[in-house]
Amino acid sequence: MDKNILEETAKKMMAQPKGILAMDESSPTIAKRLASINTENNEINRRRYRELIVTAPNLSNYISGAILFEETFDQKMSDGTLFRDYLNTIGILPGIKVDKGAKDFSNHPNEKITEGLDGLRERLSGYYAHGAKFCKWRAVITIDQDIPSEACIESNMNALARYASLCQENNLVPIVEPEVLINGSHTIEQCDIVTRKSIKSLFKNLDMLNVYLPGTVLKPSMVISGQDNSSRADSSTVANMTVDCLSECVPETTSGIAFLSGGQSDTEAEEHLNLMNKKNNLPWRVTFSYARAIQAAALSAWQGDDTNLDNAQKILIERASRCSKASVGEL
Ligand code: G3H
Repeated sequence: MDKNILEETAKKMMAQPKGILAMDESSPTIAKRLASINTENNEINRRRYRELIVTAPNLSNYISGAILFEETFDQKMSDGTLFRDYLNTIGILPGIKVDKGAKDFSNHPNEKITEGLDGLRERLSGYYAHGAKFCKWRAVITIDQDIPSEACIESNMNALARYASLCQENNLVPIVEPEVLINGSHTIEQCDIVTRKSIKSLFKNLDMLNVYLPGTVLKPSMVISGQDNSSRADSSTVANMTVDCLSECVPETTSGIAFLSGGQSDTEAEEHLNLMNKKNNLPWRVTFSYARAIQAAALSAWQGDDTNLDNAQKILIERASRCSKASVGEL
């Protein structure tokens, strides 16, 4: 592990006023996205859609790094340039999602465990050799009657820490993503309790495995009411409770925090981030690593038809620019 390389990469990822673009939808997820615009899910269409994203004019004014799915990391654009090389030429760091997905957790109904540790060391050294600068691993925690279990939190956070340690061995900055799902009717207080437990467990495991925090980026969900809750907490409560939770659970030496949007509307995702950044004295950079809250409107404008390409790119840039402003509290 070269701490200087890790720290330097993490600083670039957290550069103001930028954030990280998540465009690493797994095969089942990109299938859903393309189905929503009645576009066939095949390699060409996945390439066309992702090419629309990365060639949006001036994307690098707002985006410091892009998380790719493994297919995209090795894929060529229509002119034969590899996506990862193109991103480098426009000043966006290429990263890659390396987990193998959240699978049913044995003996724990309705809970998930993220897989992908087997053979990870070898995969990571290949990704680094091909120009990846950082990686992502997502763990999923569900709130419902009697869940999450201690076992689900501990097992997922330990896997995240093992992944992070392997990344750093290969000079790749790990994005550690413990996502507490917004699905359900839970209260914001329940979300707060579960988020605190998860993040505390994550940093305990990172510490146990000697993970270098200045070379690590946390990608959490916000502390927020479940989407089916009939009296959801307002924006300033979300921002305040999220900052309180993170201030208590995230060591100041962590390189930075980049939120997922997790099913929030575009307006919610930007407003919550903006309010957090309006507060003074946050000990770490707080920015975005959104997928849906940056891409959704552009996807729907595109409709799989390249006569809509310019408009879709304009919309994508507008979303990225608003999130960028929110990341410095200037929306
Ligand atoms: O792993 C989740 C993605 O990287 C973030 O996606 O912003 O749509 O929740 P989202």
